[in-house]
Amino acid sequence: MTGAATTQTFRTAIVPAAGLGTRFLPATKAVPKELLPVVDTPGIELVAAEAAAAGAERLVIVTSPGKEAVVKYFEAQPELEENLKAKGKDELLEKVRRGPALLAVETAIQEQALGLGHAVAQAEPNLTPDDEAVAVLLPDDLVLPTGVLERMSAVRAEHGGSVLCAFDIPKAEISPYGVFDVSDTDDEDVKRVHGMVEKPKPEDAPSTYAAAGRYLLDRAIFDALKRITPGSGGELQLTDAVALLITEGHPVHIVVHRGGRHDLGNPGGFLRAAVDFALETPEYGPSLRAWLTERIGTDRP
Ligand code: UTP
Repeated sequence: MTGAATTQTFRTAIVPAAGLGTRFLPATKAVPKELLPVVDTPGIELVAAEAAAAGAERLVIVTSPGKEAVVKYFEAQPELEENLKAKGKDELLEKVRRGPALLAVETAIQEQALGLGHAVAQAEPNLTPDDEAVAVLLPDDLVLPTGVLERMSAVRAEHGGSVLCAFDIPKAEISPYGVFDVSDTDDEDVKRVHGMVEKPKPEDAPSTYAAAGRYLLDRAIFDALKRITPGSGGELQLTDAVALLITEGHPVHIVVHRGGRHDLGNPGGFLRAAVDFALETPEYGPSLRAWLTERIGTDRP
């Protein structure tokens, strides 16, 4: 693979954050799920950092009326910063400044949660003529270790078109996912996509490659989004627009990411992520590990 500098194919990343977060009710009555902290940092900052590391310069956050706090999180807080500075709390000051310094943040508004495809479509007016492709990162999907966007960018540089991220999932566990119908390329971890099946039974799954929340989409996706009709639940599905592009001969590939993943969109997945991240911190890791070991060994009702 060549270096990111030579294969940089996008400057703008879109983060859809206008969903209802129903799986996280009642907390999401008042707090957007994208701001729930994994240890101390909201998931949306983690994906913003991932996008910035992959070369994105602008982040378009798609949010909804009532969820403005998601964008506010990326604004500087001069008074708080002065306060921390005066108290010599340099480490906290650095953390507070980290989010706003990552990249330029803009907002697009999705008035109603009409699906992921609809959310992405709301970001089109934010694009510049130079944006031939955009990255889309779902803030409730942590793909670890980070770096898959750089690989996806290299694949677009080589093959053109759009590139999606996939995980290789055991066939028996494939049913909750969108599954790709693929053929091989010269690279074992890069496949050409011919179609996609949502939530198949294991025996009907066309492969073991399941979709993850990272997309590098050719600008043609915005035109395709205007031409699809609402699918399940009356929502405009991003994958339907990708499928339309495939039928029209647009190249779509997946990069198979051999790593881990956390689903921050539901309490169970979120807790795993928080524990996983906390165990890695010098501050909380050792005592959490000791407590968990004791807690698990204790036969409490
Ligand atoms: P999810 O389906 O995981 O989020 O969408 P959700 O709809 O908020 O969650 P539940 O199912 O009600 O619990 C993935 C991402 O896409 C965004 C969400 O905010 C989330 O970050 N999204 C989803 C939108 O921005 N708009 C939509 O209409 C749907």
